[in-house]
Parts: sequence; C-alpha cells; structure tokens
Amino acid sequence: MDSIGADPAGCQAMSSSEVWDEDIATRYDASSAEMFAPEVIGPTLDFLAALADEGSALEFAIGTGRVGIPLAARGVAVTGIELSEPMAAQLRAKDPGLPVVIGDMATTRVEGEFDLVYLVFNTISNVRTQAEQVECFRNAARHLKPGGRFVIELWVPPIRRMPPGQNAVPMRLTDGHLTFDTYDLATQACSSHHYFTQPDGTTLYSAGNFRYIWPAECDLMAQLAGLESEARYADWHRAPFTADSESHVSVWRKPV
Ligand SMILES: C[S@@+](CC[C@H](N)C(=O)[O-])C[C@H]1O[C@@H](n2cnc3c(N)ncnc32)[C@H](O)[C@@H]1O
Repeated sequence: MDSIGADPAGCQAMSSSEVWDEDIATRYDASSAEMFAPEVIGPTLDFLAALADEGSALEFAIGTGRVGIPLAARGVAVTGIELSEPMAAQLRAKDPGLPVVIGDMATTRVEGEFDLVYLVFNTISNVRTQAEQVECFRNAARHLKPGGRFVIELWVPPIRRMPPGQNAVPMRLTDGHLTFDTYDLATQACSSHHYFTQPDGTTLYSAGNFRYIWPAECDLMAQLAGLESEARYADWHRAPFTADSESHVSVWRKPV
C-alpha cells in the first residue's frame, strides 16, 4: 500500500500535512494531467493575473509549478512556498529561476509583501487541523500588501451525497483511475482512496488524508486573519456560487 505522505525523513514534522515523496513528485504532472489542460489552467491564470496586475504573487503549496510557472510567464513576479522538497525539485527542473522556499505554508515567512497570495487545487485541506488552517489564513494576510488579495480554490464537501449510515462518496470513476472519498462528519477528517490500473493489469492503491472546510468556515478563518470578504464564485470563470456549487474560488482582501 502506497500512502501519499509517507515522510521517512520526518523533516517537516511541525506540519500536520503529509509530505509528498519522490515517487509522488515524479508522477505528479502525469497523474494530474487534466489539471494542466488549457481549459483548466487558462481561466485560472486569467483570474490570478488580473488580480496580480503584473505585480507580485506568492503561491502557497506551489508543487511542481503547474500554476506558478505559467503565471510568471505572464509577467507576474511569482514566489512559492512548498513543503515537499521532491515537488520543489520538479519545479526547479522546469523553471530554475522561480524562487521556492521549502516550508510549511502555515508558518513559513518569505521576504517581501505581495499583491496576491493564492492557494489552489483544494490544498488548504492538506493541512489537517483547524488551528493550522487558520494559521494559513494569518500567514497569507502577513504576506499581503494593504489592498492585496488572498485567493483560495476549494471543493465544497459533498456531504449531501451521503445518506445516513454511509461514509463514502465516489469522486472519480474513469478508465484506469477510481477515487472514493471517506468522511468523518464529527472531525471533518477525510481520506481520498485512489485505485490506478497499471498497464500490466495490476492495481496501484494510494491514499491521501485531509480536513475538509465549509465555505462559511473559510470566511471566519479570513476574518480571524483580518481579511475582508470580496467575492465568491463557483469557478475561475466567475460563475455564481450557489447552494449546488461543488467548489468555490474565494477572494478576501487585506484592508487598506
Ligand atoms: C495538489 S498539490 C498542488 C500543487 C500546485 N499548487 C498545483 O496546483 O498543482 C498539493 C501540494 O501541497 C503541498 N503541501 C501540502 N501541505 C503543505 C503545507 N503545509 N505547506 C506547504 N505545502 C504543502 C504538497 O507538497 C503538494 O505539493
């Protein structure tokens, strides 16, 4: 069994996040290929570039640079914070000039103040305690210029799909990749169980563990960090957020 987050080095022990290892980092771009598709990445970049306005941006959990590298190519001065050295190594191999600081996005301080801090692809949930999630908001606020924005892309927990007594939700049922999420409604703990069919017909299993957050809980975390709500959309195209939305893109502003 291959568990996302095995941390043999134990070097980021202060974070509740699982630390992504070399194997996951090497496979990340291919296994997340749909997130690199132009129809996904294009609107993401348009949205973030408009807020950064050719200024500066800090990406929390920058990973292999899926968003950070093309955003920098649009003229935004991007810096990243990333917990996993192997993920950062993948980024550096693609763009050696993009500065990445290894550390926990809840606590790591980088030089400077930014027009934009962003945290995409549900990654606030990789931090698995509420207190640390609040610290992510506080750390974002700490890095913003007055008037700067913090943007989060996050899924809405699909609790409505679960009848009483059931704790699992199918999230992806495609050829070669099945994903089921399990939820503990008492603790907001959640696990994603992935089953990949290998070319030889065997199945590779991996799991990741998260803490889910409600949109309103995000607003309260932002308030605790001294940020003001500016907008909430259902997606990067700015579709209206409704009771049926399955994810949200939210923007908070540091008061001037
Ligand atoms: C789903 S990937 C997203 C990477 C990139 N932002 C993207 O959109 O492709 C999640 C990333 O978050 C990183 N991560 C998880 N917890 C973290 C933490 N507490 N601080 C910094 N990075 C973290 C992981 O190492 C991984 O690179």
